[in-house]
Amino acid sequence: MQRNERQTSNAEARERRADLVRFFGTWVRNPIKMGAVAPSSASYCATMVAASTTEIDGPILELGPGLGVVTRALLDAGVAPSRITSIEYDRDFAATLTRRFPGVNVIHGDGFDLDATLADGGATRFSTILFAIPIVKLPQAERQALFTRYFARLAPGGNLTQLSYLWTPPVKPVAGVFDVSASPIVWDNIPPARVWIYRPARLPTKPAP
Ligand SMILES: C[S@@+](CC[C@H](N)C(=O)[O-])C[C@H]1O[C@@H](n2cnc3c(N)ncnc32)[C@H](O)[C@@H]1O
Repeated sequence: MQRNERQTSNAEARERRADLVRFFGTWVRNPIKMGAVAPSSASYCATMVAASTTEIDGPILELGPGLGVVTRALLDAGVAPSRITSIEYDRDFAATLTRRFPGVNVIHGDGFDLDATLADGGATRFSTILFAIPIVKLPQAERQALFTRYFARLAPGGNLTQLSYLWTPPVKPVAGVFDVSASPIVWDNIPPARVWIYRPARLPTKPAP
């Protein structure tokens, strides 16, 4: 390994350690808002990005980016920064993301209320939404209503992927709107987790005449 490469990888390792400490400290102060003790693992983020319909043209929405591990995975997968909008509720995290990811549209705001946060009159349609906001406090009917609103903001064929540590679907399918499936468990995540994948519901097939 060349000296420059060694310095870069040392700097990356230092940044990862500092992020871990910062993330954990924020979780201690606000466990419900954070929903996780540590940033998602690299393989978890890669699984989430691979399951997301980034191949459909158009902007990509990331909700609850934290310190940017999924943002980084999107960029590593070849997504142009100008396609990504990342909405983060924590002011300090949003400031770090803005510095860390030039070209990404980082918004400090509420990812539950896209109409207010995006202030676009509901016009923007996303190719995919990567969702990592904790929703344990929301009753099932509110979760379904939230995801139904997100689906109204997806381009045709677009999907929504969700980070969750639950082992059953965190949001149950809504007939005529979306179905749900899961990735295999990613064991090196803390804690091990699946990516939940919500796809547009298939239209019922017409019975044969
Ligand atoms: C479980 S962490 C996920 C962080 C990162 N995506 C990862 O995979 O490591 C949840 C993140 O959602 C953010 N968050 C919580 N409520 C939010 C809201 N209403 N809108 C946007 N972000 C929110 C938290 O500040 C935190 O950064």
